[in-house]
Amino acid sequence: MDKRKMHGVWASRWTFILAATGSAVGLGNIWKFPYIAGENGGGAFVLIYLLCIALIGIPVMMAEVLIGRRGRMSPINAMRYVTSEAGLHGGWTAIGWMGVVAGLMIMAFYSVVAGWAVNYIFALASGEFSSAVGTVSTGYFDALLANNGKQAMWHSIFSFMTFAVVAAGVTRGLGMVARVLMPFLFVVLILLLGYGVVEGDFAAAFRFLFEFHFEKLTWNGVLVALGHAFFTLSLGMGAIMAYGAYMPDHSSIGRTIITVGLLDTVVALVAGLAIFPIVFATPGIEPGSGPGLMFVSLPVAFGSMPLGLIFGTLFFMLVTVAAWSSAVSLIEPGVAWLVETGKFNRIKATFLLAFVAWCGGLASIWNGAIFNALDFLTAQIMLPLGGLFIAVFVGWLMKRDVVAKEMDGEEHPLFEIWRFVLRYISPVLVALVMGLSLYSKLFG
Ligand code: TRP
Repeated sequence: MDKRKMHGVWASRWTFILAATGSAVGLGNIWKFPYIAGENGGGAFVLIYLLCIALIGIPVMMAEVLIGRRGRMSPINAMRYVTSEAGLHGGWTAIGWMGVVAGLMIMAFYSVVAGWAVNYIFALASGEFSSAVGTVSTGYFDALLANNGKQAMWHSIFSFMTFAVVAAGVTRGLGMVARVLMPFLFVVLILLLGYGVVEGDFAAAFRFLFEFHFEKLTWNGVLVALGHAFFTLSLGMGAIMAYGAYMPDHSSIGRTIITVGLLDTVVALVAGLAIFPIVFATPGIEPGSGPGLMFVSLPVAFGSMPLGLIFGTLFFMLVTVAAWSSAVSLIEPGVAWLVETGKFNRIKATFLLAFVAWCGGLASIWNGAIFNALDFLTAQIMLPLGGLFIAVFVGWLMKRDVVAKEMDGEEHPLFEIWRFVLRYISPVLVALVMGLSLYSKLFG
């Protein structure tokens, strides 16, 4: 069978936008962005992050979708197709392989954090945090981290949820759920933002996130911002390539991806503006609290607001759904590839990969150093490298007319600008930031 027709296409451009946004918006926006902004001093970090999204993330995202749609297969086989179409050495297929591995590595800590969120649904519903103060919520989170069995249980539940949806096929399963629930996540974030304005220290939060203090920024912080731009857009490992493979022929890649990038950025900024007012108004919680930031600050707010029990429970349910619709895209590339080999059906392929990721998750629960190493290796090394290669491949090696045709962009000034950025700006910036932060690690 022609592999290029194997997986079908999304029903419309909007289905693609929603699926891609479902992949992009997740723990990266709500859990990770606020805490790394907190650890890296706020304003200057946020500015660098926004620049990375605009100058690297969005242009590379277009390139990644373009490869996927051109190849219409899993990232590994799509890379194989476009590589041979361009008459290049098969080694470029490594982008696809590295992506499959990176996806499993990310899943191995992502589903642990998602497991925490599932745990918090029940913690809030049971009234654990009614009129809690900072020390109570911090104590609760520390106790969860110290309880490996409990973490493993929630991690397993979340892993199973992901398995079930990928096995059922992404479009029918989660597509529906995410489409209905993601807008609610946004509504609850806005509500928290309102709470922060009224009850929290909103002015301090705003200053923290948007006032530049360049003296607080390090080369390492710049690399964290760059890595996060890839992470939050689901970029550099083929997730968006796999989704691009199912994109209708005649929808504009440019406009579609800009929409997804903007939605993702707005959710991250609103999450930051919702979390930090509480952080600054609560003694015992610092902006640099690390991965627990969301889990220690928000329960304090829910504990003291009217109907907080209900909103808090709802909030963590929605975070779980957001994480769920992201997690499926972490194993989809590998699953699509296994199915294309003809040796696995979808259910077996999904089971195999979900099992590997599940084992990795147990390892990162058992030893926090593994959790950190997986996060570091993927977000700060593999994703930026994947993105760099994708930019070079589409910018320099694919035939110009093929690229122009996929972008609908022949002679269009925006097409020329995009191609210029993809050739001369995005890859140079990625290489520069990676090089300089390595240099400052070694000699700084
Ligand atoms: N973007 C998601 C988030 O922000 C995480 C994610 C899903 C991801 N798929 C990915 C990150 C692929 C990197 C690559 O939570």
